Amino acid sequence: MTVPTTLLKDKKIAVFGVANKWSIAWAITQSLAAAGARIALTYIDERTEEKVRSLAAALPHHPLVLPCDVTKDDQIESVFNKIKHEFGALDGLIHAIAYARKEELEGSFLKTTREGFQEALDVSAYSLTALARGAAPLMQGRDGCIVTLSFLGGFRVVPNYNVMGVAKAALETSVRYLAAELGSRRIRVNCISAGPINTLAARGISNFHNLLSHTAGKAPLQRNIDADEVADTALYLCSHLARGVTGEILYVDAGYHIIGV
Ligand SMILES: NC(=O)c1ccc[n+]([C@@H]2O[C@H](COP(=O)([O-])OP(=O)(O)OC[C@H]3O[C@@H](n4cnc5c(N)ncnc54)[C@H](O)[C@@H]3O)[C@@H](O)[C@H]2O)c1
Repeated sequence: MTVPTTLLKDKKIAVFGVANKWSIAWAITQSLAAAGARIALTYIDERTEEKVRSLAAALPHHPLVLPCDVTKDDQIESVFNKIKHEFGALDGLIHAIAYARKEELEGSFLKTTREGFQEALDVSAYSLTALARGAAPLMQGRDGCIVTLSFLGGFRVVPNYNVMGVAKAALETSVRYLAAELGSRRIRVNCISAGPINTLAARGISNFHNLLSHTAGKAPLQRNIDADEVADTALYLCSHLARGVTGEILYVDAGYHIIGV
């Protein structure tokens, strides 16, 4: 698809959640950069840093590359201080982060542990609010936008998704509370509920391949989606084309969520 290379000209957008070239966050980064945005990328740890830096090298406009483990308040503070120092301001934030222990993503939901629950909710849901709090002052007077990523398992029961479904429900509710509060500061907050895509995080869900084939078989478009389709929706949400949209959960799932039986 051809997108005007000026749609996000002079916009500065921080993308949290690139782990490798299959990450949805990387597809989003490429769409935003192709539309003219200047990008800051974060990575979780040293092991991921090298991959993110080599991907970032392909981007135009000298991307910033910074460490940020979202369970660490000091790292969140430091990332926004550095963005302020380098960019001066921020127009957009992409939150594409989720984590649950592998053993929490298989079989019985009843066996969810307290630690597993807290960890999944902290990383996958609370982090949106923590990052929004850091980003909002940098978006002052700039029509900012925040976009996060959810999955149907936050709304309906999906086998093995378990505690991550609870985290996504909390994430989607956070989107509405943040949108209500930040609207008066001209910051929009939206969520893309994506269909299943084969990524590192997705492979942690037991029987993920069954989910892919089931969805493709039932979805109105009779296929799965790819990360580029999510990326272009994120681009729309970050652009002035979506200036009237906030607090929204937008499904990019080939229509799967409308099907009853
Ligand atoms: N792949 C899918 O099928 C699918 C579908 C719908 C929604 N999503 C959501 O999309 C988002 C991106 O996931 P993905 O599928 O691209 O997988 P991914 O594994 O590429 O991305 C997940 C990211 O979360 C990061 N992360 C985990 N813990 C972190 C922490 N403590 N601090 C900072 N970063 C941390 C990882 O480093 C990684 O970059 C997630 O929110 C996921 O739930 C994925």
